[in-house]
Amino acid sequence: MFAVSADYAAPVELRLATAGESHGPALVAIVSGLPAGLVLGRDAIDDDRRRRQEGYGRSPRQKIEQDRVEVLAGLRHGRTLGTPLALVVRNRDHANWEWGMAPWPPEGEPSGKGSKPVTLPRPGHADYAGALKYGLDDARDALERASARHTAVHVAAGAVAKALLATIGIEVRGSVVDEESLRARIDEARAERDTVGGVVEVRAVGVPPGLGSYATKDDRLDARLAAALMGIQAVKGVEIGEGFALAAMRGSEAHDELLPGFGRETNRAGGIEAGVSNGEDVVVRAAMKPLPTLMRPLRSVDLASGEAGEALVERSDVAAVEALAVVAEAAVAFELARAAREKFGGDAVDDFVAAHRAYVERIPWDPR
Ligand SMILES: Cc1cc2nc3c(=O)[nH]c(=O)nc-3n(C[C@H](O)[C@H](O)[C@H](O)COP(=O)(O)O)c2cc1C
Repeated sequence: MFAVSADYAAPVELRLATAGESHGPALVAIVSGLPAGLVLGRDAIDDDRRRRQEGYGRSPRQKIEQDRVEVLAGLRHGRTLGTPLALVVRNRDHANWEWGMAPWPPEGEPSGKGSKPVTLPRPGHADYAGALKYGLDDARDALERASARHTAVHVAAGAVAKALLATIGIEVRGSVVDEESLRARIDEARAERDTVGGVVEVRAVGVPPGLGSYATKDDRLDARLAAALMGIQAVKGVEIGEGFALAAMRGSEAHDELLPGFGRETNRAGGIEAGVSNGEDVVVRAAMKPLPTLMRPLRSVDLASGEAGEALVERSDVAAVEALAVVAEAAVAFELARAAREKFGGDAVDDFVAAHRAYVERIPWDPR
């Protein structure tokens, strides 16, 4: 092998494109901007897929969807090639929707799920706004993509991002805030055919100072993490560090004093100052609203007739907060990996690691 001596590598843009409907044939993700030579573990990707599906309060669909994440391109013998990485998760449930979600005009009489148009929009879902925006007679055409099912491939891409971040000592973990009370609330809601939301926290450790920038608003790491989290279905609030609570504090209570050696006793800023990581753990929270599909449906109006009615009822989770912890972890990991690719670049993973090492050696910061 060639020795890597460079301590600088040009920035690289890490990108994620996805496609796929909830009950269509498959979900697809293409990740570009990865360095070559990154070792990926099959199990790590599948474990995250499983973690996303196993949360308390999820629907029986999760038992149907047990597929492995397939890799179609960009990987050879478990190592990335530096070319676009193509990931696919097949929807096993598609077998029950073959007519209803056929990509081409289906043959034969309508049969199976999805064969009747959805005209009674669920308040809180994509059905009404989507149908109006795209001129749809069947709100299924909107809700299938709006559904969070495709977070399955976001989680797979997040697992890849985590593998990249691990090469420079960054670990990202999502968890539910107040798990015990959440489970009790889920049990109560299920009994009353209702739904609940909740709050998750994602913490990234080992993040060096200097990811993100104050140069423009689009560069700010806090703005980017907020957008990444708000990009997840049903997320309605995001906090960086102490977030909203900071508004009620005095400056003397709110800011994290620097101590000799550049350590800090507090991290109310959540590891980001002026849109730049400051070497403390990056800590973000996301609040999820209660899911909009209720087994005891809300009032709605038929899109075709204008008559009052009850919203669509279809198989649905009571809560997806535990799943959100995994999806949010993936979103934060991907955004941090994107920021790390900008800062450390590199065509080969060794270049990326060498650039990180050279930088960390020149700054007064000790990863903990
Ligand atoms: C992991 C996850 C699972 C979800 N599962 C459901 C579900 O089973 N039923 C439902 O009505 N909404 C579910 N949602 C939320 C909807 O997808 C979301 O509320 C809807 O697309 C409208 O978007 P908005 O809430 O961001 O406005 C889920 C969200 C996530 C992140």
